[in-house]
Amino acid sequence: SNHINVNEKNHLSIGGCDSLDLAKKFGTPLYVLDEAVIRENCRRYVDSVNKFYNGNGMILYASKALCAGGVLKIADEEGLGLDVVSGGELYTAHKAGFPMEKVYFHGNNKSEDELRMALDFGVGRFVVDNEQELSALSRLAKEKGKTASVLFRIKPGVDAHTHDFIRTGQIDSKFGVALETGEALAIVKKAVCAENIAFCGIHCHIGSQIFDLAPFCEAASVMMGFIKEIKTECGADVRELNLGGGFGISYTEADDPLPYGTFMEAVSRVIHEEAEKHGVALPFILMEPGRSIIGPAGVTLYTVGNVKEIPGVRTYVSVDGGMADNPRYILYQAEYDFLNAGAAGSDKTEVVTVAGKCCESGDLLGEHVAIQPVRPGDILAVMATGAYNYSMASHYNRLPNPAVVLADGGSARVIVRRETYEDLVKNDVL
Ligand code: LLP
Repeated sequence: SNHINVNEKNHLSIGGCDSLDLAKKFGTPLYVLDEAVIRENCRRYVDSVNKFYNGNGMILYASKALCAGGVLKIADEEGLGLDVVSGGELYTAHKAGFPMEKVYFHGNNKSEDELRMALDFGVGRFVVDNEQELSALSRLAKEKGKTASVLFRIKPGVDAHTHDFIRTGQIDSKFGVALETGEALAIVKKAVCAENIAFCGIHCHIGSQIFDLAPFCEAASVMMGFIKEIKTECGADVRELNLGGGFGISYTEADDPLPYGTFMEAVSRVIHEEAEKHGVALPFILMEPGRSIIGPAGVTLYTVGNVKEIPGVRTYVSVDGGMADNPRYILYQAEYDFLNAGAAGSDKTEVVTVAGKCCESGDLLGEHVAIQPVRPGDILAVMATGAYNYSMASHYNRLPNPAVVLADGGSARVIVRRETYEDLVKNDVL
């Protein structure tokens, strides 16, 4: 399970800061990120490329996990590139001064406006999803007198065992082109002769929150087979192979992730074997972790409101946020570790249901979860909430989005300000 730091007051400590002080200073709900953990996770990935693949690759931070300028800057400082999937993420990267040549632009339905913006910014690669996009990109690049460097999103047909909503590599996925049908080869053939297009490589992503090495190895092997096929059929060398993200993290003690670097080690072995077998060059390797970089670094702090006991059934502990800042329980029944931040080192002697404040019965953060005794006014912490919480937050019931703070070495600074009621109404037209 996650390592929890407890200070001398028995309070949860994040980046050397007392979580109760953070709650007092910045208010709740509050997303807190431990900067050292983010950097450490980035380094583990970068090191694994150096150690197991001769440094012939690049790690991209999948910004969908948490896209905010302050986090993108850290990824840049640690030498990572960036995966963006929309005009908004791309614009955020631009505003943060992220080096555009290291940005990979994904998406299964990019608009022409988004493609134009990406061409203007000079993004490094377009990860093209389908033929219609390829044609549009070729035309738009020609209009601008530019060349778009492309990878194609391939469905490797690999089934990763994870939640249905976050499984993406299988044949009926909305993402990419299939190998079996010949669609993938056809699009590569088209790209090789398309105007203003430079064909660079292929991409796949088999799913998220995956704990097994096998599906990654299988995907790598399928992709290497396709590289051979491209060489035979089109005479083109595939210089880049992007294997996506998806490495699982520990949310509760039931999760047992492999050490960082294990994926690179295993995949590297497969790629070396397959390259030799097929007589093709070793490709430049890319991986796109999101969750495993930012997830474990995050903690959400809430203030407990009322505690409602339904005798013989359950006790609801209501907090000042909920599905608006963390929709993962209502979407995926995602599990988390809960703590009374002011008694973090004590035994979890109670079992409660943590409820949000939204007008919806399903607005829960966890049901029948273990926690230390909690009373109104206490600070409740939900662990490992760095990924897909802030980035999937909504304004349901017009709840303003919480602030995001970065904690390190005993001090903390805001990287996303808390929304105000004025922010909420600023686009209303009366
Ligand atoms: N690359 C591509 C093309 C992706 O689609 C994704 C995630 C990633 C990389 C990063 O995957 P990660 O390393 O973070 O697993 N909202 C869901 C997760 C959706 C993931 C979507 N794609 C959740 O909260 O669990």
